[in-house]
Amino acid sequence: MNNIENALTERIKELSCLYEVTSILASADLSQIESTLLFVVKSVKKAFQFPEKIEVVIEFNGKAFKTGDAIKTLASIEASILLFNQVKGQITVSFVDESELHFLKEEQQLIESIAIKIGDFLERVEIRDKQEHFDRQLERTDRLAILGEITAGIAHELNTPLTNILGFAQLMESEIPAPLKADLGKIIKSTIYAREVVKKLMFFACEMPQNKEKINLIPIIQEAIELLDATFRNNEIRYLFEAVKNEIWLRADSVQITQIVFNLLMNAIYFSPKKGLVKVIAKEDNNTICISICDEGTGISDKIKDKIFQPFYSTKPVGVGSGLGLSVVQGIVRSHNGTLSVEDNKPKGTIFKVELPKDETC
Ligand SMILES: Nc1ncnc2c1ncn2[C@@H]1O[C@H](COP(=O)(O)OP(=O)(O)OP(=O)(O)O)[C@@H](O)[C@H]1O
Ligand SMILES: [Mg+2]
Repeated sequence: MNNIENALTERIKELSCLYEVTSILASADLSQIESTLLFVVKSVKKAFQFPEKIEVVIEFNGKAFKTGDAIKTLASIEASILLFNQVKGQITVSFVDESELHFLKEEQQLIESIAIKIGDFLERVEIRDKQEHFDRQLERTDRLAILGEITAGIAHELNTPLTNILGFAQLMESEIPAPLKADLGKIIKSTIYAREVVKKLMFFACEMPQNKEKINLIPIIQEAIELLDATFRNNEIRYLFEAVKNEIWLRADSVQITQIVFNLLMNAIYFSPKKGLVKVIAKEDNNTICISICDEGTGISDKIKDKIFQPFYSTKPVGVGSGLGLSVVQGIVRSHNGTLSVEDNKPKGTIFKVELPKDETC
């Protein structure tokens, strides 16, 4: 074959490869990234002048998809894979042994075109993942809204009879014969517990009356912590309150803010080891007030991170936790137009962060 024929044969191989890769990527199942990229590397290898002397590698997301073990120190060419204008990977073609051979400029152009096509494919995958995540979030919000309405209804219906049971049982206390007193005591205790659950449900469904006024956050947090002083000591857990200022003003319901701090601290205490430190930090910047509750406890695994805010989700033993603490906190935070988030504490434990918007009237 003469030079022109050689060159033509190479161009045909490159064009066939481009066509094949385009078809693979266009018809690929978006959930099968790995097998798709493996097809691509194999197709690219065939398009080179000396396929038996090169290896092709696509690196993406910390993974490598390759035709063999290429040695990068030898002659190689590469092209970056861009996703939304950012380099997220690359395609490299290298000779497997030292030789006088070199790559053609058309081969460099070929892998640049292939890199663009892979980038488009991976962008499609990312858009699909984001859409799925968004759909799931929407579904969850819908479910929570429905659950909120049902919960509010049930809580209302139970509140009155429970208050009646409690009232009458307390009236009977002084009248009934001694042997029955212990049983009546149990009825009263259970009713109080049931009423607490109902109260939590009403908080969750934002059904508790709200009294927003201008308040100083610092003494409110201080008092909530002091209320739990005995619990901290009984569990041998240390605590620290760090406030950047003596006064942080906001417009909020002080009882509900206490409820937030109380619930988050109860969780921090429960999940902390003996001698563990629980830190409460209060700060503010121009727009936001932030309360963080940091513990050195068990931490929360990624597997359950998106479940913990669901009502009735609890990893505590049955009868110990109702799984409503965080739902209550979230209900209150939302009614103050704020956000509640969770992150890992370093080196261990959890941080719950409540961020509330500042009100210009404060
Ligand atoms: N500080 C924390 N450390 C580790 N896990 C936590 C922490 N806070 C919450 N969790 C996890 O989130 C779950 C839900 O918490 P939530 O406060 O809603 O309910 P609960 O504490 O189990 O019950 P309740 O608050 O009604 O007593 C907990 O059971 C636990 O698995
Ligand atoms: Mg709790």
